[in-house]
Amino acid sequence: MSGPGHHIRPAAPADAPALAALGERTFRDTFAADNTPEDLAAHLAATYGPARQAEELADARRTTLVAATDAGELIAFAQLLAGAAPPCVAGPAPIELLRFYVDRGWHGRGVAQALMAATLEAAAARGAETIWLGVWERNPRAIAFYRKWGFEDVGSHDFMLGSDRQTDRILVRPVEAGGPG
Ligand SMILES: CC(C)(COP(=O)(O)OP(=O)(O)OC[C@H]1O[C@@H](n2cnc3c(N)ncnc32)[C@H](O)[C@@H]1OP(=O)(O)O)[C@@H](O)C(=O)NCCC(=O)NCCS
Repeated sequence: MSGPGHHIRPAAPADAPALAALGERTFRDTFAADNTPEDLAAHLAATYGPARQAEELADARRTTLVAATDAGELIAFAQLLAGAAPPCVAGPAPIELLRFYVDRGWHGRGVAQALMAATLEAAAARGAETIWLGVWERNPRAIAFYRKWGFEDVGSHDFMLGSDRQTDRILVRPVEAGGPG
């Protein structure tokens, strides 16, 4: 799966430091304007760092895909997590799309489409039939993107960003439902 100047591949153990840096950068770019520096810092410290990403890449419950430029720079990543689904996710064989981030300079350029297509293939390869995710209710661009891909709102859950309790919308679609509408 690829587009002009980039390709999608499974993340390798050696990607952990670059993945940590990309994860921190994209999270900051997306959420810094709407959250306190303290809440942001607490979340980033708990979620991103070379050792943390190395653990995640070694975790058999997770599948991590990256988009890389032809020069080898990581510009996007997605992570699936096979775990418990909330009760509002009713479909068979669910899997969570835990993370889906594209570097800011690559938004609107097709990287997200290639990454989502590859993510759905990876979910199918794991035997998943339903894919679900939580997205902050105040993240309209991501919600618009997921709706293009046929995800539907089935409920909400709380998400702690540092000390701030936030509401995530829960979106769901069948893994095999096809491309963006
Ligand atoms: C979410 C993300 C992966 C989508 O990738 P993308 O390349 O930006 O997606 P696209 O441009 O194909 O689609 C976004 C859509 O939202 C629309 N959009 C942009 N800003 C918007 C806004 N403020 N409100 C509503 N829609 C908006 C775009 O016009 C586009 O729709 P269109 O194709 O019909 O014009 C990417 O924006 C991203 O990585 N964002 C930061 C990280 C993030 O929020 N990840 C999701 C966490 S759950």
